[in-house]
Amino acid sequence: MPTTLRKSPSKSASKARVAVKASKPGKVASGGAKPAKLMPGKPAARAARSAKAPKSSLAQPSSVSIARAATKSARAGLTPAPARPAVPATPITRWAPESAPRQTTVKPARAPVSVKPTTVHLKVPGDAARSSEIIIGPGTLVNAPDHLLAPRSAVLIVIDSNVPGAAIEPLIKRLGTAGVRWQASVITASEPAKSLATAERVLADAAAFNLTRHDAIIAIGGGVVTDLAGFVASIYARGISIISCPTTLLAMVDASVGGKTGVNISIGRGQHSELLKNMAGTFHQPRRVVCDPLVLGSLPARQFAAGLAECIKHGLIGAEGGDRKLLAWIGANLAEILKRSPEVLGELITRNVKFKATVVARDERETKADLGVKGGRGVTSRASLAGRMALNLGHTFAHSFETLDGLSWRNADGALQAGPLLHGEAVALGLRCAAELSVRTLGLSKSVAEQLEQMLTAAGLPTRVSGLPDDATLLRRLSHDKKATNRGPRFIGLAPDGSAKLMSTVTQSTMAVCVDSIREP
Ligand code: GLY
Repeated sequence: MPTTLRKSPSKSASKARVAVKASKPGKVASGGAKPAKLMPGKPAARAARSAKAPKSSLAQPSSVSIARAATKSARAGLTPAPARPAVPATPITRWAPESAPRQTTVKPARAPVSVKPTTVHLKVPGDAARSSEIIIGPGTLVNAPDHLLAPRSAVLIVIDSNVPGAAIEPLIKRLGTAGVRWQASVITASEPAKSLATAERVLADAAAFNLTRHDAIIAIGGGVVTDLAGFVASIYARGISIISCPTTLLAMVDASVGGKTGVNISIGRGQHSELLKNMAGTFHQPRRVVCDPLVLGSLPARQFAAGLAECIKHGLIGAEGGDRKLLAWIGANLAEILKRSPEVLGELITRNVKFKATVVARDERETKADLGVKGGRGVTSRASLAGRMALNLGHTFAHSFETLDGLSWRNADGALQAGPLLHGEAVALGLRCAAELSVRTLGLSKSVAEQLEQMLTAAGLPTRVSGLPDDATLLRRLSHDKKATNRGPRFIGLAPDGSAKLMSTVTQSTMAVCVDSIREP
């Protein structure tokens, strides 16, 4: 649940440090002094809690009601995300195909002085106002946040409570010197918290802060935050600008590019409740996206691998976005990618963003999905032009088990991992299912499916899980996918030529075989 960062200008430094006031819904501090001093390496909310007293009357917040937010989350049955260490010694697996995987440690990256940012333009044909620019480069957020300034007088910063304070300290300073009024709305990101209730709280924060149509939202966090903040931006005052600063690999290469926004919807009760992913949402292109590979240095290994799942997905259908060599490039550079060298991460992000921007620009609203239907084995129809829907490769399967409890799987080093899957982990499993479907119905070579499995494993992603419910339950969950028609769920398959196919009315027995391919007894 979100809460607000704000200041009370009259507090002394020591008082400000301890006076962590609960922010009341709809009540926002007005005016104020200098921004909270966010402590390097501390999560944003913690940094803001220990904020120093304002030194001038320049602007903004400093106290945060994260304690209240945690209480609210607990009351709402939400699970706050585990605290992330500021500079963790992140164990991560390097791939040496000829030998057993081994562990190494990733150190947070430092900005190479010479690397210039790259800008990718996503142009929505016939609607220049809805185009966005994606700026990629080491230091673009943590060293030089000027990309986030524009002639505007106020911004609402929607931020994940786990973002280290160091990542946004320069931004806060820069907003202060530019005289931009700002306030933060803090979210403890999780799939259950990606809800209409949280969106409503952020909307209330925006309204109480008197954000106008000429102002903007800045989203800082992973896909949950950028999707939710984008949704809020699309409906607040009938739409205001949003600038996204993704802080996970997955959000950089996928979630924050292309303008899909949304929240999850929960149906049913108790044991039978289900979270339907992104069931309410809009298309709202961000004005700008700022991807700083340096913030990935401290990303936990699981989160980093989760982002690689979307990169591998892009690689499989590289031809759809004009980059046939993407998968081979990822494979050849995987060891360096896993070491998180800022240069190679910059290239990884740039190639993936270019790929996605190309696909989205051709079919922003996913309307090219229903062309060319013909028969095939195990399916009663298949379309040969998937458009943007190609990006859903593996996702129909993934969404059906992403929010399941009780799953467990083995890491590449053999350690048992339990708990709900991250989105990218579910995508990795979904890609395995989609490959199985493609082998069975589209004539994809088995060796491609095997190579995919090897690459996912090398990237530290699960390819099999224990604890999946029975086929009937999974098939029912598949039918809830939002791409489903009244004829049943639809899937994206991979053809031998590397193109993506939209498949409708896949038979239930074929679906079951695909799901069974990732079952670990
Ligand atoms: N992540 C799929 C899309 O943006 O269309």
